[in-house]
Amino acid sequence: MEVTKVVIPVAGWGTRSLPATKNLPKEMLPVYRKPAVQYVVEEAMHAGLTDVVFVSNQYKRVLEDHFDRNLSLEAVLKRAGKYDLLRQVQEVAEMVNIISVRQKEQLGLGHAVLCAREVVKQEPFAVMVGDDLMFSQEPAIQQLVDVARNEHMPVVGVVEVPKEKVSKYGIIQAEEFAPDLFRVRQVFEKPEPEDAPSRLAIVGRYVLTPEIFDYLEKLEPGHGGEYQLTDALQALAQNNRLLAVKMVGQRFDIGDWVDYLTANIYFALKDEDLRQDLISSLEELLPCAQR
Ligand code: G1P
Repeated sequence: MEVTKVVIPVAGWGTRSLPATKNLPKEMLPVYRKPAVQYVVEEAMHAGLTDVVFVSNQYKRVLEDHFDRNLSLEAVLKRAGKYDLLRQVQEVAEMVNIISVRQKEQLGLGHAVLCAREVVKQEPFAVMVGDDLMFSQEPAIQQLVDVARNEHMPVVGVVEVPKEKVSKYGIIQAEEFAPDLFRVRQVFEKPEPEDAPSRLAIVGRYVLTPEIFDYLEKLEPGHGGEYQLTDALQALAQNNRLLAVKMVGQRFDIGDWVDYLTANIYFALKDEDLRQDLISSLEELLPCAQR
């Protein structure tokens, strides 16, 4: 099973990040030196996915522009002899093919994925949620692509979350049939902690097959009155057609301020040029913050 396309839903309002996101798409919030969405696209690219389908809306054009050439800026950088920066801005435009479809109304993640049907056609495809940044040795989505390819089945990525956080996620009930590999029996969207069958939470990484579209088309509004991808996954699970992989790596939900700020520090600390200065600055800051 060859996977080349990835659907990235980006039509959300980003209310958790207001007022920063009043006019700036949440996917463009910088995480250290790059907009958040660039990390997601780089993860896809490193896993060999070549076609990115943004499910977007009229306020998100700046996202497409970020992955396009900016010839005026390039001319300025060239004239100034800033060749390293020039290379960096050009590289972003060469990463992947960008295809954009519109989600005319925001009716939920299931609806967003369905909007990509005409582009995805009859191929297996990945879905990556733009809010979730994942970092591991190999690209996080690669873990799912490999399993989907070997098992010829749709796969969702899961991580173990603390009990008090299960109500923020889709939670699976599943049997582990190989290390970190599960057969999913049921999926529950944002259950209360006392109703959750496990602490295995779906993170924003999926590899799906076109069969999902038929289920998405038939969806009724689910949790929160939205068309939930989770409900279509539940139909797959009931037909014994859904696997889950426990993912390894560092995960940041950029819609959460603590995660967002931690992600910035994480990347800055990885930058040798900055690390020492940043540590000194944080050391100075901490005693002030505790006062
Ligand atoms: C969506 C899904 C949920 C999943 C989560 C991962 O929820 O509906 O099942 O666990 O993404 O990020 P959202 O965060 O969009 O409310």
